[in-house]
Amino acid sequence: MSQHLIAPSLLSADFANLGKDISMVNDSEADWFHVDVMDGEFVPNISFGMPVIKAISKHAVKPLDVHLMIVKPERYFEAFRDCGANILSVHLEAVTHLHRAVQQIHSLGMKAGVVLNPHSQVNLLEDIITEVDLVLLMSVNPGFGGQAFIEQTYDRIIRLRNLINAKKSKALIEIDGGVDLVNAPKLINAGANVLVAGNTVFGSDDPKKTIHLLKNVH
Ligand code: DX5
Ligand code: ZN
Repeated sequence: MSQHLIAPSLLSADFANLGKDISMVNDSEADWFHVDVMDGEFVPNISFGMPVIKAISKHAVKPLDVHLMIVKPERYFEAFRDCGANILSVHLEAVTHLHRAVQQIHSLGMKAGVVLNPHSQVNLLEDIITEVDLVLLMSVNPGFGGQAFIEQTYDRIIRLRNLINAKKSKALIEIDGGVDLVNAPKLINAGANVLVAGNTVFGSDDPKKTIHLLKNVH
């Protein structure tokens, strides 16, 4: 039985029927809700902010895995905690003081993740890997759902897994972007622990069944 986690990305949900999609995820084999916050500056798209996350958290019975694609994210750590974030991930490329950011997220009682864009080298995490709960590797350029998976990701997972093992870190490896039923088993075999899926889940005819299939790949 596979131990990996599935985090459906609400970016691809039906925003006019969000309650329905949240209930579906609640009732499914999914483990977390993946919540993408975009500011139109760090990434060329704007998604949603605190009021929407607060509304999601009222209905969600699983942890909110909040992925911040915003500049100077530290301005809002407390606000995201207050609207229900359980895991808060910041981009390496968006913060100057990553170590401090991780400490601040922890001191607010949340799990801390660091996100790498596809071009950022995995070994940049060497001196922070024992401090973080999660590393999110972008397998597309952040900003939009439904993009094509970047094949180099497998090699990046293997290098990150080696780094985590060498440093005896407990960090989980999460993959975000273009995850589907074909690449999911390969990602797990390469060493991923958490798979984010937006379009694959919400674009399918039977999202709950798709979550079941993603959860049971091996
Ligand atoms: C992209 C977001 C992803 C996105 C993934 O910037 O971080 O979480 O929702 O969507 P899919 O799975 O459709 O590539
Ligand atoms: Zn994301």
